[in-house]
Amino acid sequence: MDTNIPNDLGAYWMPFTANRQFKAKPRLLVGAKGMFYSTHDGRRLLDGTAGLWCVNAGHGRAEIVAAIAAQAGEMDYAPPFQMAHPKAFELASRVADLMPGDLDHVFFANSGSEAVDTALKIALNYHALRGQAGRRKLIGRARGYHGVGFGGISVGGISPNRRAFGGLLTEIDHLPHTHSLEKNAFSKGQPDWGVHLADALEDLVALHGAETIAAVIVEPMAGSTGVLVPPKGYLERLRSICDIYGIVLIFDEVITGFGRLGAASAAERFDVVPDIMTLAKGITNAAVPMGAAVVRKHIFETFMQGPDGIELFHGYTYSGHPLACAAGLATLDLYRKDNLFARALSLEPYWAEAAHKLRELPNVIDIRTIGLVAGIELAPRANAPGARGYDVLVKCYESGALVRTTGDIIALSPPLIIENKQIDELLAIVGAAIKTTP
Ligand SMILES: Cc1ncc(COP(=O)(O)O)c(C=O)c1O
Repeated sequence: MDTNIPNDLGAYWMPFTANRQFKAKPRLLVGAKGMFYSTHDGRRLLDGTAGLWCVNAGHGRAEIVAAIAAQAGEMDYAPPFQMAHPKAFELASRVADLMPGDLDHVFFANSGSEAVDTALKIALNYHALRGQAGRRKLIGRARGYHGVGFGGISVGGISPNRRAFGGLLTEIDHLPHTHSLEKNAFSKGQPDWGVHLADALEDLVALHGAETIAAVIVEPMAGSTGVLVPPKGYLERLRSICDIYGIVLIFDEVITGFGRLGAASAAERFDVVPDIMTLAKGITNAAVPMGAAVVRKHIFETFMQGPDGIELFHGYTYSGHPLACAAGLATLDLYRKDNLFARALSLEPYWAEAAHKLRELPNVIDIRTIGLVAGIELAPRANAPGARGYDVLVKCYESGALVRTTGDIIALSPPLIIENKQIDELLAIVGAAIKTTP
């Protein structure tokens, strides 16, 4: 290594990134405040994605910065195995309090991926403790994203991820996804068509036998694969089929948790309580990494009924890290003080209206909105899926907005502090980029 070049771009292997493409023309973010990033070349970038679906309260919030700094000075780290620190209990109580029903117990991890693996393990172990160790199968859904652990990749439904790493866990099956351009294009909120797709779970029960199925995991609204909103009645039906067959229902709320859909959780918005919920991202406003699995009372109690000793052989060095807990507590205070979940809900009609105005632009084949989320689907270029979406992303970046694309779908999910005029600005930049991208 040439030590005279400390800032060479070569050493950093970037995640989920076209490294060579990026390094040929880097896009570096060097500062962030409120609704804006600043770039290495001195430009302001309107944040249309809340970072990566995570900075829900906006960037650089003084209260969170102060809480992290104070915690770092007071106690940098505390081991979480057979020891603890007070803020972990406080944050767990606050998170449990925000979640519906008897989702009362919180296991901390450091990312969405870890939260998902935690949830899957809890589901498997729960059945084993009840004498149903034969329940080993995990059911995911096509076009689901559950992070990159071997568990999450396997139940996930993204072909390149699964092809590369998803084959090691064999007790896996998938529901069909709920997206249909024919039936549901240009829907605002929950589409009318598609409740019957939940019945595919009945088919999997018939195929494998309920006694072999441990859990079903779905994102209540799939974000990463392009904003797939659950059809009316779909989540309710999944819930009732899981109830009939004793299957643990897991909602992966890594994106939908903490206000994205205008409520503390999608479970609350859609009025369907899962048995386990995964959280991350917005739990700390992304200022310190953190994830969590929140479980219902009956699951937790099952673990607590065994002989004295460690109840769950699982945990991370940084579970409930003091800096993350401090950031989390300050974040939850901000959400409450600024009433951000209700704010997102009240912005939803304006947001939807602004997004759906783009429907006449060239190559736009669908627009889907709910909460403060929009998916704008473009027709792929012949023989080059994803190329048009990527060009739009770059064009938006160059003209002052951060957007996210998955393939040819543009996904927008701004911080919940966005103002109407910034919604207009964001959609104007996106619209212009679509219009000028062949
Ligand atoms: C629904 C969902 N689950 C899990 C994850 C993985 O989270 P992380 O990247 O923090 O591991 C993501 C990330 O976007 C996600 O959207």
